[in-house]
Amino acid sequence: MPPGPAGWPVIGNILDMPSSHEWRTFAQWGETWGDIISVNLLGKPLVILNSSHVADEMLDKKSLIYSGRPVFPVCGEVIGWNRILAFHQYGPRWREIRRLFSQTVGSHNSLAQLTDDLEREADGFLGRVMANPTTLTQQVHRFTGASILKVTYGYTIEKENDELLRIVDTAMEQFSLASAPGAYLADAFSILTHVPPWFPGAGWKTTAQAWRKDLEKMCDIPYNFTKAQMRAGTASSSLVAINLEGDIDPQREAIIKDAASSLYAGGADTSVSAIRSFFLAMMRFPEAQRKAQAEIDRVIGSDRLPTVADREQLPYVRALCWEVLRWQPIAPLGIPHYLTQDDVHAGYFLPKGTVVIANIWKMLRDPKRYARPQDFNPDRFVPGQGAEPEYDPRQVVFGFGRRVCPGSQLAEMSLFLICAVSLAAFDISKPIVDGKAVEPSMEYTTGTISHPCEFQCSIKPRSAKVQALLSSSGDVRY
Ligand code: HEM
Repeated sequence: MPPGPAGWPVIGNILDMPSSHEWRTFAQWGETWGDIISVNLLGKPLVILNSSHVADEMLDKKSLIYSGRPVFPVCGEVIGWNRILAFHQYGPRWREIRRLFSQTVGSHNSLAQLTDDLEREADGFLGRVMANPTTLTQQVHRFTGASILKVTYGYTIEKENDELLRIVDTAMEQFSLASAPGAYLADAFSILTHVPPWFPGAGWKTTAQAWRKDLEKMCDIPYNFTKAQMRAGTASSSLVAINLEGDIDPQREAIIKDAASSLYAGGADTSVSAIRSFFLAMMRFPEAQRKAQAEIDRVIGSDRLPTVADREQLPYVRALCWEVLRWQPIAPLGIPHYLTQDDVHAGYFLPKGTVVIANIWKMLRDPKRYARPQDFNPDRFVPGQGAEPEYDPRQVVFGFGRRVCPGSQLAEMSLFLICAVSLAAFDISKPIVDGKAVEPSMEYTTGTISHPCEFQCSIKPRSAKVQALLSSSGDVRY
């Protein structure tokens, strides 16, 4: 096995495992043990990869055997999240759901059909943020939730506190809690998943059963909405509507339903974190903000807002989005892969059943690939600056091999759009209290998806013209 901390008989390295922000500890271990580290958790091997080169060699080039997922006893089986693509084992059902994804959000054509909806949602976002900047986090949730509900179910959010959005977000919050490493003893001792809820110490099972019902609501309610719209002949185009046409057997219907909830589960929270990191970065790095605004003013002018179609003409704004993704990766450890056959790699023997984690956070701070990696510097990705652009973070941030994120193009498109329109419309800065700028917290939450902790932000329209137009209507493209 690859080297790693020594550990104890039977329990192995359980006591060495960090309880939060594991990516930082794994990066420190890398200083001692190198790019491939192994630990043993109660006899189960776990391998941590600290460099993108090694991840490419193993997870990409040998993806046939590195594309399984470990079983998550509580979150996956007891609560039921294993119906979602990210938790599926590699196989025909997984392949079919990926195919539906690629039809909906994976091709140039399919994405082109979504731009009008995204741009409309982005307009609404600007208007609501301008009216009440303190609701930024809520508006980011609404923008991403609305975009994905539209793509998946053809559902339009019409007002604040939308009931459907509440239902899906409730289940997603529960997912975050249930999937946190170490959340349940039963994840380590899966036999405990079989004890009844009344058994002493098994109170968690009652909660898990309630959460299972909430997950079912998340999958069923929006799906039934689209079916009802189809019966009434009023359904708009969406993943569900397109695929439910014609004669469908129950097995196929279950696949379509799970593909739809997988799209929501994969897309909503990730984009929320990315957009909030963008606002945080703009407060912390005003020079980058000004440079991006100057590019927008030069290329687009002030008579209209940027659109998705302007992407190619705005290389600095594009690079700024990539830097947001590199600077604070949303999924710092990705999702664990699972080795489905024995492998020998770089002289190490890795047995079937090894869980493999890519330390994406560390890879995106590799000083061999990124000059002064701690700095927020979009210029590192802008071509024609006298040096070759640095390593494209999208090769890492969206994961590896056959499991690579199937929503990456939609994610990039919506991040670009919201960054570009926000930069065109607003000046984003640290709030001033008693004459002093309030420094935002740079803390990020732990967990599969890492979010910036709550921060205050000053958001002001850049001109009276923008202000007038954003206040005038719900649809403010001009
Ligand atoms: C900036 C935003 C996003 C980031 C950084 C991101 C990152 C990732 C990463 C690291 C993985 C794990 C890949 C692996 O196992 O190696 C993943 C998987 C996945 N992502 Fe994303 N993602 C983002 C947005 C989205 C969006 C918008 C969607 C849906 C439209 C989505 C859907 C999924 C799904 C379904 C999987 C599981 C794929 C599988 O297991 O086969 N993601 N993502």
